[in-house]
Amino acid sequence: MVFKIYIQLLLQLVLTTLQSHFATSRISILQSNHHNLRLSFSVVDFGATGTGNHYDTIPIQSAIDACVSASSALLGSHCLVTFPPGKYLTATLYLKSRVFLNIQKNATILGGSRLEDYPKKQEKWYVVVAENAVDVGITGGGEINGQGWKFVERFDERKNVMVSWNKTGACLGDECRPRLVGFIGCRNVEIWDVKLHEPAYWCLHIVRCENTSIHDISIYGDFNTPNNDGMDIEDSNNTLITRCKIDTGDDAICPKTYTSPLYNLTATNCWIRTKSSAIKLGSASWYSFKGLVFDNITIVESHRGLGLQIRDGGNVSDITFSNINISTRYYDPSWWGRAEPIYVTTCPRDDSSKAGSISNLQFVNITATSENGIFLSGSKGGILSNLKFINVNLTYTRWTKYADGLVDYRPGCQGLVNHSTAGFMMEHIDGLDIENVKMRWSEEKTEQWNNPLDFRPSTVNNLSLLNFYSGLYNEDGGWNRESKNVQLAE
Ligand SMILES: *[C@@H]1O[C@H](CO)[C@@H](O)[C@H](O)[C@H]1NC(C)=O
Ligand SMILES: *[C@@H]1O[C@H](CO)[C@@H](O)[C@H](O)[C@H]1NC(C)=O
Ligand SMILES: *[C@@H]1O[C@H](CO)[C@@H](O)[C@H](O)[C@H]1NC(C)=O
Ligand SMILES: *[C@@H]1O[C@H](CO)[C@@H](O)[C@H](O)[C@H]1NC(C)=O
Ligand SMILES: *[C@@H]1O[C@H](CO)[C@@H](O)[C@H](O)[C@H]1NC(C)=O
Ligand SMILES: *[C@@H]1O[C@H](CO)[C@@H](O)[C@H](O)[C@H]1NC(C)=O
Ligand SMILES: *[C@@H]1O[C@H](CO)[C@@H](O)[C@H](O)[C@H]1NC(C)=O
Ligand SMILES: *[C@@H]1O[C@H](CO)[C@@H](O)[C@H](O)[C@H]1NC(C)=O
Ligand SMILES: *[C@@H]1O[C@H](CO)[C@@H](O)[C@H](O)[C@H]1NC(C)=O
Ligand SMILES: *[C@@H]1O[C@H](CO)[C@@H](O)[C@H](O)[C@H]1NC(C)=O
Ligand SMILES: *[C@@H]1O[C@H](CO)[C@@H](O)[C@H](O)[C@H]1NC(C)=O
Ligand SMILES: *[C@@H]1O[C@H](CO)[C@@H](O)[C@H](O)[C@H]1NC(C)=O
Repeated sequence: MVFKIYIQLLLQLVLTTLQSHFATSRISILQSNHHNLRLSFSVVDFGATGTGNHYDTIPIQSAIDACVSASSALLGSHCLVTFPPGKYLTATLYLKSRVFLNIQKNATILGGSRLEDYPKKQEKWYVVVAENAVDVGITGGGEINGQGWKFVERFDERKNVMVSWNKTGACLGDECRPRLVGFIGCRNVEIWDVKLHEPAYWCLHIVRCENTSIHDISIYGDFNTPNNDGMDIEDSNNTLITRCKIDTGDDAICPKTYTSPLYNLTATNCWIRTKSSAIKLGSASWYSFKGLVFDNITIVESHRGLGLQIRDGGNVSDITFSNINISTRYYDPSWWGRAEPIYVTTCPRDDSSKAGSISNLQFVNITATSENGIFLSGSKGGILSNLKFINVNLTYTRWTKYADGLVDYRPGCQGLVNHSTAGFMMEHIDGLDIENVKMRWSEEKTEQWNNPLDFRPSTVNNLSLLNFYSGLYNEDGGWNRESKNVQLAE
């Protein structure tokens, strides 16, 4: 009781303070499941127009800052910054501890498309960014939109040509555009029930964070735009991703390590379409990846399904992929990926790099229909060990006109190499179990891809096959047992 009265007194104080700044401002206090008190400020009360053609940066940032003051006055209660329906054009917004953006249905935060909308340092180019914040997040049912189309210099079905702010000297190369949302060095992050659309570059970036929960979100990016990754999770521990839909041009869920290891990432119940890799570890891989689980995921029409692209000496271990349906096809070779449903590679990026090792990898209950086979490639200094494929059904058929017959080591390493297609192409492996694996091949072009297992004993050691089938399949999808069916072991 005494505590409640104390809170009310504090609230009075906060209200008075705020009213002296904003004659019209209102605070509402909501009940919440997580906390018994939750403050809410509407950006409209701080002067945001919500028209979409006028910059609302200052009112929105003022609402966030007022939330921070109110929250600390109220002993760390959480505070919502509410966006009612409307379009809010803005420069970079700085999210703070204990503040949650509550972007309501039919409300959209539109990221500015001018260089001056972003801070000087290129690594801080985000539409919304939180740095070193605790208990922070985004929700509300609405949308954050990066207006990615304004960064397309020329639309091209092959690959869009993008504007680059490199001309200013802020950064070099053509990957010189703002990201959409970033959490850097944060703890207890929650992002849920929100749409993240049309990023100009990477979409959701989680860097050096601890305890992040991302759920019930949808990510949409132009299919032909390069570098519009879905989620890049870097150097972060204890990340949970569930119930997500990602439809974008570049890698969809992409854990990376630049400055420290990444532990315990779980992604479940997601649907993904991408012109690059649906799930990709790397290619930034200077430190280890350990304890990752990917379960119940549907991957459609992507350039690559499950990928490990280890290039910088980080070691990978204890990774499980389970209950995953995949369809992969060829797109233009200017995109990394060669329609591989599963791609596990480690090699030194260049002469100055090391090769990391990959061990304890499991693929369980996987169904794939694809235009190319599985590629498993270690290298001299980076062996693949203890890999398991259990209950895997693979259907190989061609349905696009793109040329095949290339093995893709990019980035770096050997680049693109001519090599005939195989069901499993394997090199530099020690310990591979294949159990209950069925491979079926469409009849067309048989002469080019009739090789279920491609390996040399000099680099592949301790390969075990149990219940492995490979055969052609009929029009009706049945097994063609009479002709070229191969049964290696049962
Ligand atoms: C959102 O907009 C749609 C279409 O304009 C409208 O039907 C719907 O009622 C709006 N919902 C809210 C919560 O404003
Ligand atoms: C800037 O990017 C364009 C491609 O978008 C490229 O042609 C040009 O060489 C780049 N300039 C610099 C300085 O990196
Ligand atoms: C993790 O973060 C969530 C909110 O995002 C919070 O509810 C939970 O208590 C945190 N867990 C730990 C161990 O801090
Ligand atoms: C993640 O855990 C590893 C191993 O304990 C640790 O080295 C690293 O600093 C942690 N990262 C963060 C962001 O807490
Ligand atoms: C990863 O998860 C395990 C099991 O929950 C836990 O024991 C370990 O501390 C976690 N690692 C990090 C770096 O948080
Ligand atoms: C798998 O994920 C889908 C959403 O993509 C969901 O509808 C379904 O319930 C999930 N299945 C299980 C067993 O969790
Ligand atoms: C994969 O496809 C099978 C058969 O169509 C279906 O039973 C299963 O639920 C699907 N799993 C996922 C993760 O989509
Ligand atoms: C990877 O493992 C090797 C062999 O254990 C070790 O020498 C190397 O330091 C590890 N790399 C990293 C980045 O931890
Ligand atoms: C693979 O196909 C067989 C039928 O040939 C089916 O019994 C099994 O459930 C399928 N497994 C997966 C993981 O889809
Ligand atoms: C694989 O599928 C079988 C049959 O549906 C199920 O019993 C088993 O739990 C699944 N394994 C994993 C690791 O999900
Ligand atoms: C692949 O072989 C063709 C000729 O068959 C050649 O034109 C092409 O340059 C080769 N590509 C690579 C990447 O070696
Ligand atoms: C072969 O690899 C399996 C794991 O895949 C391992 O358990 C076994 O000890 C290895 N055997 C030899 C002889 O190396």
